[in-house]
Amino acid sequence: MKITVFNGSPRGKKSNTHRMVTEFLAGAEKAGADVENIFLIKKKIKFCHGCFDCWTKTPGKCIFHDDMDELLEKFIKSDVVVIATPVYVDNVSGLMKTFMDRLIPLVDPHFEKDEKGETRHTKRYAKYPKIVVISNSGFGEQSHFQVIQLLVRRVARNMHSEVIGEIYRGGGEILGVKHMMLKPLVARYYKLLRKAGKEVVNEGKISGETRSKLEKPIIPLEQYAAGANKRWDKLA
Ligand SMILES: Cc1cc2nc3c(=O)[nH]c(=O)nc-3n(C[C@H](O)[C@H](O)[C@H](O)COP(=O)(O)O)c2cc1C
Repeated sequence: MKITVFNGSPRGKKSNTHRMVTEFLAGAEKAGADVENIFLIKKKIKFCHGCFDCWTKTPGKCIFHDDMDELLEKFIKSDVVVIATPVYVDNVSGLMKTFMDRLIPLVDPHFEKDEKGETRHTKRYAKYPKIVVISNSGFGEQSHFQVIQLLVRRVARNMHSEVIGEIYRGGGEILGVKHMMLKPLVARYYKLLRKAGKEVVNEGKISGETRSKLEKPIIPLEQYAAGANKRWDKLA
């Protein structure tokens, strides 16, 4: 199984997103997956110009020959793609959204009705990868992923795919905090992430049990908010 991660955090290797991805991929790799971890911040990705040439003049190919040529190939040749992004303004990062916009050459422009009777574009390829989403937010509650959850499901629908795993970490900034007391709590969370990676390979999805464990706060929300405020006071 080929799993490709597209990390949309501008912080790249220093991101909390990357901390989560690293553990998820460790589990997947141990279960036998061939994994690749791509940092979008390192890539040249122009904004989609909306010319539709990728649907008309050069079907399936964008007029821009930037790094998306290579990324589209990696996307479509994967069995599973991981959309990995921080929450920015209640949504995916701008970097991730730019990447998502540039996925349109992967479908054919013609309209069809999906199984729910809603219009979408038809397939250009016989097979599309399944989708896993990994995201973290600054605020503690899991409700901050409402928009991303809906967006990723809509992207999956547009891409003739399905979401086989969702990992949302409210209060994700805690993952980068080095504190003795936090170490075992974060280690327990990382273990769950590795389990999720393993499940995707062995079972084709993240189980409901693992998902609900992953949703639990690492520390109480009040404690997280108090710690965050203290940090802002110190940094300001
Ligand atoms: C421009 C910007 C917008 C943000 N918007 C939100 C937001 O709407 N809700 C939230 O909970 N956190 C928000 N955050 C905080 C990030 O989600 C948080 O810092 C996260 O841990 C960053 O993840 P990363 O290290 O993977 O990039 C925002 C951060 C930035 C820089």
